[in-house]
Amino acid sequence: MASDRLSQSSLFRLDGQTAIVTGATSGLGERFARVLHDAGAYVVVAGRRTDRLNALVDDLGSDRALAVATDVADPDAVTALVQAAVRRFGALDVMVNNAGVSSPMPAEDESALAFARVVAVNLNAVFSCCVAAARVMLARNIGSIINVASILGLGASWRIPQASYAASKGGVVNLTRELGAQWAARGVRVNAIAPGWFPSEMTAELFDSERGLRYVERNTPAGRPGRPDELDGALLFLSSRASTYVIGQTIAVDGGWSVV
Ligand SMILES: NC(=O)c1ccc[n+]([C@@H]2O[C@H](COP(=O)([O-])OP(=O)(O)OC[C@H]3O[C@@H](n4cnc5c(N)ncnc54)[C@H](OP(=O)(O)O)[C@@H]3O)[C@@H](O)[C@H]2O)c1
Repeated sequence: MASDRLSQSSLFRLDGQTAIVTGATSGLGERFARVLHDAGAYVVVAGRRTDRLNALVDDLGSDRALAVATDVADPDAVTALVQAAVRRFGALDVMVNNAGVSSPMPAEDESALAFARVVAVNLNAVFSCCVAAARVMLARNIGSIINVASILGLGASWRIPQASYAASKGGVVNLTRELGAQWAARGVRVNAIAPGWFPSEMTAELFDSERGLRYVERNTPAGRPGRPDELDGALLFLSSRASTYVIGQTIAVDGGWSVV
């Protein structure tokens, strides 16, 4: 019993493990990096805005953090990111594929190019990141990959129309199932988090308008948007040994949005 208590107290710890977080220059990704660092991990933060990456590493104030400027839409840059993490910290245990973009507009106004630009970051790049991470993780038969999907990958967005975003996030949900199943027997887990509405640069315009905020409040059973800390639990659960038998799942953290 005493040893059970001991193992539970360390269930969500990541001491000595290495994690990469893409899109760590703002919003959810910055929070994810801080949470993983607090749980004891070596953290590699990636994004295009190097000033933000360096400021985050400075703020974490430890030799357990590294900034690597990365455009995730470039598969070579993604490979270099994973190599930089392994070179600096010796391994890769957790990969959080969080970088994303949105571009709301009615589908009839959306060009094929605009659609492809969103899919390139939200889906193609998630595939590149999963594969680059898995190549390293499969060699050690251990690792956890966490994709950041969206409630808009579980259902239509329609009132805030964004076909490219909904399609790309829906793709992430099924990519997560497929890669989770492909790699499960070799120790590499792939799961996803589907956030509801959370404050970030991406949602700033929506939350800044009274109408936008009311829309979120009215359609979320919890009656409010998510707080930044309300994704911490799902992130730590999926990153840690607490979820070793969880494969290919997408966990909605959405105040009930996706169940009504
Ligand atoms: N906030 C929400 O309510 C919500 C809900 C559901 C899902 N999500 C998802 O959560 C994730 C984070 O979004 P957020 O809300 O935190 O928005 P955000 O504040 O706009 O953050 C987006 C992040 O993605 C990075 N990024 C975009 N394009 C990139 C590229 N080509 N290469 C590397 N990094 C890139 C940005 O960094 P740089 O610009 O520095 O490259 C930034 O750090 C996204 O996947 C989003 O779809 C958010």
